[in-house]
Amino acid sequence: MMANNVMIMDHPLIQHKISMMRAATTGVKEFRELTSEVALLMGYEVTRNLPLKQVEIETPVGIAKTNVISGKKLAIVPILRAGLGMVDGMLSLVPAAKVGHVGLYRDPETLKPVEYYCKLPVDIQEREIIVLDPMLATGGSGSAAIQFLKDKGCKHIRFMCILASRQGIEQLTSDHPDVPLYCGAVDEKLNDHGYIVPGLGDAGDRLFGTK
Ligand code: PRP
Ligand code: URA
Repeated sequence: MMANNVMIMDHPLIQHKISMMRAATTGVKEFRELTSEVALLMGYEVTRNLPLKQVEIETPVGIAKTNVISGKKLAIVPILRAGLGMVDGMLSLVPAAKVGHVGLYRDPETLKPVEYYCKLPVDIQEREIIVLDPMLATGGSGSAAIQFLKDKGCKHIRFMCILASRQGIEQLTSDHPDVPLYCGAVDEKLNDHGYIVPGLGDAGDRLFGTK
């Protein structure tokens, strides 16, 4: 059974675009566009419960009591490299969000994440954070990135991935039960190399054309 704080997005547009991403015949340009579009569509849901406050705004014909987003400011944190493909889509929804970067790669032998880069907004602890990575396979990278942010004092973290494995979901929710997890689709299996099956292949390579 899935933990309570796991949301699987079932909007038809998200499902359709993920199907296009899966196809081995989809080239780099289209894969990039689809990744960005799915991030935008998912971002719409991920930001659904941002707090609002009422303000008065002068319209051409009167004063409107109306809502604007309040509360903590947002930061988005892509996990390099593949998370970069989701940044534009999110920024088209929340253009003023700050962007932090965490660089992790998965050691091909041990499948454990190795950190190689970190640059975060100075006030990251004060922000509502959305971590971006298209793939949640063993869950090691996502879980390490969240722990890394928690170690820096961050408390309000959400995680958004396009494709997850069941194992990845279990790992992330058991390591970080306080972090809401948003997935576009879920596959059952990982292969011996830790790739999601049937999955969509190596998201970083498909985004950047490195294979
Ligand atoms: C991929 C992906 C995740 C990670 C998922 O990155 O973007 O970060 O693997 O696997 P896990 O859940 O088993 O940790 P990769 O290490 O291939 O680096 P890249 O984004 O630079 O290609
Ligand atoms: N990383 C990817 O890019 N794809 C997978 O299937 C697993 C990890």
